[in-house]
Formats: sequence, C-alpha cells, structure tokens
Amino acid sequence: MKQITRTPIVILNFKTYLESTGARAMKLAKVSEEVADETGMNIAVSPQQADIWRIAEEVNIPVLAQHVDPVDAGGHTGSVLLEAVKEAGASGTLINHSEQRMKLADIDAVVKKTVKAGMASVVCTNNVETSAAAATLKPDFVAIEPPQLIGSGIPVSKAEPEVVEGTVDVIHGIDPDVKVLCGAGISTGEDMKAALDLGADGVLLASGIILADDPKKALLDLVSRI
Ligand code: G3P
Repeated sequence: MKQITRTPIVILNFKTYLESTGARAMKLAKVSEEVADETGMNIAVSPQQADIWRIAEEVNIPVLAQHVDPVDAGGHTGSVLLEAVKEAGASGTLINHSEQRMKLADIDAVVKKTVKAGMASVVCTNNVETSAAAATLKPDFVAIEPPQLIGSGIPVSKAEPEVVEGTVDVIHGIDPDVKVLCGAGISTGEDMKAALDLGADGVLLASGIILADDPKKALLDLVSRI
C-alpha cells in the first residue's frame, strides 16, 4: 500500500466513466504510474471500489477509495467499509465528494476512522465556508471543488481564483497542517500551475485526463509546469 507522502500532488479521480472502469482503469493507473516515474511527480489514483484490489496490486503509486461509508464492521449490506478498502490496498479515501455528499457528523466519523487507520483523508468541499468547517475536522487534505465547474473544462484556478485563495487562507488560519487541493475543470499544466500559485498543494481532477484522446500526453502536460 503506497502512502501519500509529499506534495504537490495530483489525485486522478476515475469516477464511474467507462474509460476508467475495469481493464481500462488498470491501463489508466499504469499510465499514471509511468508519468509519476518519468517526472518524479506525486500522482495518486482513485478508482471505483471494485477496481481497487487489482490496481493496488499492480501499481506503486497511492490508490484512494472514492468514498467509504460511516459504518463499522457488521450488518451494513451494500455499504463500503474502510477496513475492506484498506485490505484491498487503498491508502486513503475521498470523503464527501460533490457526487457523494455526506452529513457533517458522518464526514467527521469517516475522517476520524481514516486517520486512526493511518490512511489519507481527502474531504471535498464546495466553497470557503464548508472548507473552514472541514478543516476543523483535521483531515489530511481539503479539496475545494465548486460543483458548477466540475466536468466543465473551465478550471477553478482561473474561473474562481478567489475561492481557491480564500480556502487556502481560511484553512491555514484554522489548522496549518491541513493541506489544500483544488479541483473542477482542471486539465492543463497552466491550470495546475495557476492552482499552485494560488497556494494549493495540488489538484483533484477527472475528465480532462480520463476523456482525453491521449491520457498520458494530457497527464504529462498537466505536470509539465511544476
Ligand atoms: O474529483 C475531481 C472531480 O470532481 C473534478 O472533475 O472532470 O472537472 O476534473 P473534472
């Protein structure tokens, strides 16, 4: 299980695109590992639950779950148990992604469980205020993603720089140990450099790479300005 150890970092969220499912998820994970090896850049992948085990077995980059449920072992049919994704090889998890929103108490429970398990916690937020609330829960990362920009190809680092800067400032004021990522519409090296220039410690992205004609070329461009 490869841990996230340093920043800046790129987290590629595979979501549930067919282009990043099953055998194609494995191919994309290996491309991500190749780019990480060739550039020395920190790249983590976040495949669907069903793909975690075989990807974590094959690649030497961090693999994160896209979601885990606020449940302990027992009778919770259909839920995703943190211990299960950890044994499958995940070294962390996204929490409260805009496409898998959670209640504050459940976010807190999952952050606490993830930290106790020695795994990386990435809490996703939608604005500066929710980012401040998330920071008080002491996750490893807060990832600010304005939902209206997700999948738009309009990078948050250009469309709403004040949201990224405001999140960095408020979080550093609450807990300087919490690192800030930004996402939504990020796809190029220029977008990633703009995000880092705004004070982010990395990016969380999906469609700009997954749906690219040449994902490896797109990923190499993404990290080309770092
Ligand atoms: O988790 C990252 C994702 O929500 C951003 O989506 O397609 O705009 O990179 P996308």
